[in-house]
Amino acid sequence: MTTQTPGTHAPGAPRLGNATALSCRECGKTSALGPQYACDECFGPLEVSYDFPRLTRASVESGPNNIWRYAPLLPVPADIASRPTTEPGYTRLIRADGLAAELGMRRLWIKDDSGNPTHSFKDRVVAVALAAATEMGFKVLACPSTGNLANAVAAAAARAGIRSVVMVPANLEGQKILTTAVYGGTFVTVDGTYDDVNRLASELAGEHEDWAFVNVNVRPYYAEGSKTLGFEIAEQLGWRLPDQIVVPIASGAQLVKIDKGFSELAGLGLVEDKPWRVFGAQATGCSPVAEAFGNGWDVVRPVKPSTIAKSLAIGNPADGPYVLDVVRRTGGAVADVSDPEIVDSIRLLARTQGVFGETAGGVTVGVLRKLLDSGQLDPDAETVIINSGDGLKTLDAVAPAVSVPAAIKPTVAAFQAAGFDGTDI
Ligand SMILES: Cc1ncc(COP(=O)(O)O)c(C=O)c1O
Ligand SMILES: [Zn+2]
Repeated sequence: MTTQTPGTHAPGAPRLGNATALSCRECGKTSALGPQYACDECFGPLEVSYDFPRLTRASVESGPNNIWRYAPLLPVPADIASRPTTEPGYTRLIRADGLAAELGMRRLWIKDDSGNPTHSFKDRVVAVALAAATEMGFKVLACPSTGNLANAVAAAAARAGIRSVVMVPANLEGQKILTTAVYGGTFVTVDGTYDDVNRLASELAGEHEDWAFVNVNVRPYYAEGSKTLGFEIAEQLGWRLPDQIVVPIASGAQLVKIDKGFSELAGLGLVEDKPWRVFGAQATGCSPVAEAFGNGWDVVRPVKPSTIAKSLAIGNPADGPYVLDVVRRTGGAVADVSDPEIVDSIRLLARTQGVFGETAGGVTVGVLRKLLDSGQLDPDAETVIINSGDGLKTLDAVAPAVSVPAAIKPTVAAFQAAGFDGTDI
């Protein structure tokens, strides 16, 4: 709890809407809002506390068609909607009857976050981080990234007219490299894994005090952006919470914050409070959280990633223990699928729903299928899965599995000779 009352503003403190303080997720100690991310008492991670105003469904619905409709629930200045941002969010929630029929489910929805400005959910977290960072006086937006975050940071900085410094492992998908470089910021490719890049970023954050590393020194604000996935899902379901949700895991922040978003809506009386179960999805080649869940461990043992799901290839996930808390508390599970299952699942999603997800989407659909087969997910319960990124950014993963027919002459005879006229199409 904080001593600040809503509407008041300590001199020199950043103006971050209804956010009042940072509090330690481990020991609960609070500190003032600022560019701090670890507790000075126990080094635990900090998260944002608020004094929420009374909010109505109507006031949210009258907001802009992007994440800023939930600005009162985020650590951002009140006038954020009029500032230059990429305006992410309010992506479509698709009723997935085709995929549901294939999997023997009754009510399945896909939250399709490939529709964001740089085609992944990362635009949400970056927009919130940028708003908070600007308010705290940072001049440069930076990040270590597994690819999608790099796209989002480079684009958001370009839109806001500030410098960006983006660092990625050099072996990323070519599409993600190009879709970062095009925005023209400082772009560093590193010979190493994401965990190496992340360590380098943490060292640089100590040396460059005016650089906001979105997922390092402004991480408490950044992570709050993923709550908007939870808010939107509930609103788009007609202000209801789903029974089950399946979320891909890299650092684990997205999963933890979707759960927090559901809790906040229920606490504010915007949705009826009811139980929901949270499930996590990883690739077998980088599944430290699934391993800890399966073994009943409270700690997550770091691994060296090796998977085509490069966006999820974080071997030492910062929010791993908190994912375990959420999943165990809600009666969910964490599971993993192999690279061939990821490719199959990308194709299944495309074939049944007309949605082309990236490898992270394949991981989520694959884990959905696996947990249905094992009886851990209830096929009759209303379920939402997250498609967090666009298949156009991970083309190499599916290219070997998708056959493209040879060209024909532009004649009916050639069309028929190639067998396209038959009933077997
Ligand atoms: C497409 C995609 N989905 C999911 C995730 C996982 O996000 P988090 O690190 O919050 O677990 C990432 C992270 O980079 C991602 O790029
Ligand atoms: Zn602490």
